[in-house]
Amino acid sequence: MNAKQIRSTFIDFFKSKGHQFVPSAPIVVKNDPTLMFTNAGMNQFKDFFLGNDTPQYSRVANSQKCLRVSGKHNDLEEVGVDTYHHTMFEMLGNWSFGDYFKEEAIAWAWELLTEVYDLPVDRMYVTVFGGDQADGLDKDLEALELWGKWIAKERILFGSKKDNFWEMGESGPCGPCSEIHVDLRTDAERQLVDGKDLVNQDHPQVIEIWNLVFIQYNRTMDGALKELPAKHVDTGMGLERLVRVIQWKQSNYDTDLFQPFIHQLEALSGISYGSDEKTDIAFRVIVDHIRAISFTIADGQLPSNNKAGYVIRRILRRAVRYGYTFLNFKEPFLHLLLPTLSDLFGEVFPEVTLQQGFISRVIQEEEISFLRTLDKGLKILDQIKSESSIVSSKTIPGNQVFELYDTYGFPLDLTSLIAREHGLSVDETGFNTAMEVQKTRSRAAAEQETGDWITVTSEESVEFVGYDQLHSLCRVLKYRVISEKKGKKYQLVLNRTPFYAESGGQVGDQGTLLGESETIQVLDTKKENDLIVHEVDKLPVDTSQSFNAQVNEERRLRVMNNHTATHLLQSALRQVLGNHIQQKGSLVNEELLRFDFSHYAKLTDGELTAVEAIVNERIRANIHLDEKRNLPNAEAKALGATALFGEKYGEFVRVITFGRDFSVELCGGTHVQATGNIGFFKIISEGSISAGVRRIEAMTSVQAEAYVREQLQTLKDIQELLKAPRDLKKSVAGLLQEKNELRKEVEGLHLKQAAQIKDQLLGKIHRAGNLDLLVASVTLPSADALKKLSFELKNESDRFVGILIANIGGKPQIAVVIDERVVAENQYDAGKIVRELAKNIQGGGGGQPFFATAGGKDLEGIPLAVKHAKEILSYPSI
Ligand code: ALA
Repeated sequence: MNAKQIRSTFIDFFKSKGHQFVPSAPIVVKNDPTLMFTNAGMNQFKDFFLGNDTPQYSRVANSQKCLRVSGKHNDLEEVGVDTYHHTMFEMLGNWSFGDYFKEEAIAWAWELLTEVYDLPVDRMYVTVFGGDQADGLDKDLEALELWGKWIAKERILFGSKKDNFWEMGESGPCGPCSEIHVDLRTDAERQLVDGKDLVNQDHPQVIEIWNLVFIQYNRTMDGALKELPAKHVDTGMGLERLVRVIQWKQSNYDTDLFQPFIHQLEALSGISYGSDEKTDIAFRVIVDHIRAISFTIADGQLPSNNKAGYVIRRILRRAVRYGYTFLNFKEPFLHLLLPTLSDLFGEVFPEVTLQQGFISRVIQEEEISFLRTLDKGLKILDQIKSESSIVSSKTIPGNQVFELYDTYGFPLDLTSLIAREHGLSVDETGFNTAMEVQKTRSRAAAEQETGDWITVTSEESVEFVGYDQLHSLCRVLKYRVISEKKGKKYQLVLNRTPFYAESGGQVGDQGTLLGESETIQVLDTKKENDLIVHEVDKLPVDTSQSFNAQVNEERRLRVMNNHTATHLLQSALRQVLGNHIQQKGSLVNEELLRFDFSHYAKLTDGELTAVEAIVNERIRANIHLDEKRNLPNAEAKALGATALFGEKYGEFVRVITFGRDFSVELCGGTHVQATGNIGFFKIISEGSISAGVRRIEAMTSVQAEAYVREQLQTLKDIQELLKAPRDLKKSVAGLLQEKNELRKEVEGLHLKQAAQIKDQLLGKIHRAGNLDLLVASVTLPSADALKKLSFELKNESDRFVGILIANIGGKPQIAVVIDERVVAENQYDAGKIVRELAKNIQGGGGGQPFFATAGGKDLEGIPLAVKHAKEILSYPSI
């Protein structure tokens, strides 16, 4: 069976046992701050086990994309060095939510492995939980008995809490588990050592393939175990290992899940897999990492400098360096593996095929940027290595590790890895200190002294009314003063406010607070945790009075136009460019809107026009705002609402819809009542801001109108200048052509002129002994022409020594050229002569002994320079 068949056999088998197939959840976790990446098939079902949520089906099966590179489950260091750990792998699983339990889970696992996949029973072992005193848990005798129905008693082993009590993290659903292990050694080896003694001993040929977890507890934050309301089954079998066992290979990498990559790398590098352990490790690391990188990018995580993005960048740089050092890839190569990846996985995970071009582009740009500094960084490491052997220190100092990180883009773990290869270690504490120093430095730059809030009334609740009204009566709850280098800032918190605080890219509101006897200007509004903070021009004289808060209406309306237009733009981009478009940032203010999104190529004029046309069409359709303020998150998802990656959403969300089938977004911003208010939408620029991310800037309404008017006015001005009221394009093209012709003519004239000058000068050469001397003043069009003329004169005479003093467009310039043979005899030095002569024209210069030039300011000095030059060369006045 090939890998595809093995995967589908698993799903079909459980379908036949009443299971519903569900697709893999994304590999990037978006709404759980404790988890960056999916690390087990059960992650997406956590709430079903805990009883927080009710599943639609009580039995499901799937193949989940998992990544184990951080947190509790991290296999990164083993990957490639051994043959059976991976960063990204597929976990096949079957689940029961309060339905069947141990008996069926065990019976079906056995049936699938031994009858369907036909694995040899005499090479299999199973483990059951041996109990744990601290947790007050007994041995799992039930599992022992159930397994006894299928497998000989001596092949069932008790295991410790570490191996046989599975927990998702520090807290969460958990329970005893049974693992199934297979012994893949040769018969001879098996005779020598009993396989039983090698189970869970990190033997590369005696490996675990399946884990059946019987979930019945919840580990709470304080470490206690609580019985769950129902009992569940959570199983996980690594597809890569299963395929290896069924295909009877020595290594996961020898299966058809990895071989196509390896063959391609062999062809690209000209090195064979299996020829050397060092290059073999590089092969394995690269073919493992390309999967992790690509699947994560496909799920919306771009490589970056922090958090999940940095994890991906680190893995990518690790792969680039293995390729560079061991397989001699000096040019980007990882992205070339994308078509192979798409062939292998596109059927099961269509996202990698749908976004193949985008993923490839992002990876290639990352490779290019790291390859720019990799070589330098490696050389520095070499130097450190040789220095360390001199001073016999085995540790690379923290500041050097930091320099490699900061200047050459070497992630800490990459430097550690390379250090280890050379028997060195790195000073991690020193590295962290250097990092902290840098952070503190940048914090200090923005330092400000924040005074404490002064409370006016103890009333705490703050009400935002700005979705519905632009003014309201309010009182001051607290105020404070902030001292900055530039001066003082004043801030107020109000009990009720129509002022929108900056968030989600939308700027904060401005406006006024009208008191009984004073008016205060609101300059900006910001969020601080749950507070809405108004930045004002002064503190109220009387803080107990009531104010009439008024948002600057015109400004706010412009902002709303731009915010709604941003939503329309996002949907239009998806229509025109495809569904891979993801928002990567935005800015919405009263002047314009800015939208950053994932896309790999410059937008063509046609695409920009299409996007603009769709948005304007939606504006004319005057679609009414459909705003839902407190929709349960699940319902919003069901509506297909667009959410932002990396954004934390509560259980209830606000959903902004402009046409159910056009634009549905989770959003906290303020919007127009109907799209017609926007009036008109105009894109003013499009460009790239980083690998795979593009930026569009646009204007709406009166700003867009003004923009178009200015553009047209410019055209009109040009038309008038050209006196070409009709066909402007033709006139400009005509002008350009005329200019080209004139330039050619001038160049031709210059050539002629130069030839004439040369002829004249050749006639002025004075023979003195065996030297041809020349001193002359000339008028020439450019410094280049002077140089050219100097060399031509030298080539046409014998043992030439010439000084040309030129007027070039009103500026004096001197060139001295001397035949190499004369230079060799130390008679004259062009550099020295030119420096001497430059004094006459208030200039300076230099060059080689055979050719030197000087420029100056004083044209009047030319006759003096000529005189001086004649003296130097004893050149007669002819
Ligand atoms: N959740 C179990 C594991 O990840 C199956 O091993």
